[in-house]
Amino acid sequence: MDLFDLGGRVAVVTGGNRGIGLGMAEGLAAAGASVAIWARDAQRNKAAATRLGPGARAFGCDVTDAASIASAMQATLAAFDKVDILFANAGVGGATRFQDLDEEEWDRVVDADLTGVYRVVREVVRHLQGRGAGGSIVLTASVFGSRGLPYSPHYSAAKGGVVNLGRSLGVFLARDGIRVNVLSPGWVATEMTDGVRAHDKSNEAAIGRTPMRRWGEPADFAGPAVFLASDASRFMTGAELVVDGGYSAG
Ligand SMILES: NC(=O)c1ccc[n+]([C@@H]2O[C@H](COP(=O)([O-])OP(=O)(O)OC[C@H]3O[C@@H](n4cnc5c(N)ncnc54)[C@H](OP(=O)(O)O)[C@@H]3O)[C@@H](O)[C@H]2O)c1
Repeated sequence: MDLFDLGGRVAVVTGGNRGIGLGMAEGLAAAGASVAIWARDAQRNKAAATRLGPGARAFGCDVTDAASIASAMQATLAAFDKVDILFANAGVGGATRFQDLDEEEWDRVVDADLTGVYRVVREVVRHLQGRGAGGSIVLTASVFGSRGLPYSPHYSAAKGGVVNLGRSLGVFLARDGIRVNVLSPGWVATEMTDGVRAHDKSNEAAIGRTPMRRWGEPADFAGPAVFLASDASRFMTGAELVVDGGYSAG
């Protein structure tokens, strides 16, 4: 269907070299987009670009460093001339009891998961506003942006910030034809959740509290990513799309 066609569009996916980001990037590439992966690990970047095919490139980028983001943007524009779509997806997890949560650990998670999203969006929005051709931005939050994850207060706080950053930007950038939506995954089997799956009790709790009774897979995010990036969602902005196997409905 033409509504989902991303032919001729250029999409940046931060944290696209593995996990949910790679699942989304595979969907975007299959729908015809040229994809630029932004992440830190050079070997994984190369492997992801190869997997996505000849229309894809990967660029080193650390979302905690504004200069690194600016240089990834420059390299992306040199390769593709423009950016139409951004998935601000890079993030890190963290599990600590609140009484043991020091400022260093708080900053590590908030800097990557909330301030990192702000930095990347700021860089790409300057380009989108300059071009004046609109665009679609998708922020990866979490179902734990609206619910409490007891052993990850810093992660929950950062993701709650991402949900509301998406609403604020959705309202503000609508006048520029730039849509901003939030995608909130539930429990997904990636490296970030290896520790949860390693323990029978926490693994069973994650599956048991998910009505569809399974872990999400990165490939489950291909369709939602194409939907949010494409004209199929053209009247949606400032919205949160929850992709969680029913977790937050229960
Ligand atoms: N898995 C879940 O259950 C779940 C649930 C809800 C939300 N999420 C969110 O979904 C997003 C993707 O997570 P995932 O589960 O796919 O985790 P993952 O497999 O650990 O992947 C994380 C990705 O982020 C990149 N990244 C991390 N820190 C970065 C930095 N400073 N600069 C640039 N890239 C960075 C990593 O690449 P490099 O290390 O090479 O930089 C990697 O590509 C995250 O925002 C996460 O919070 C995950």
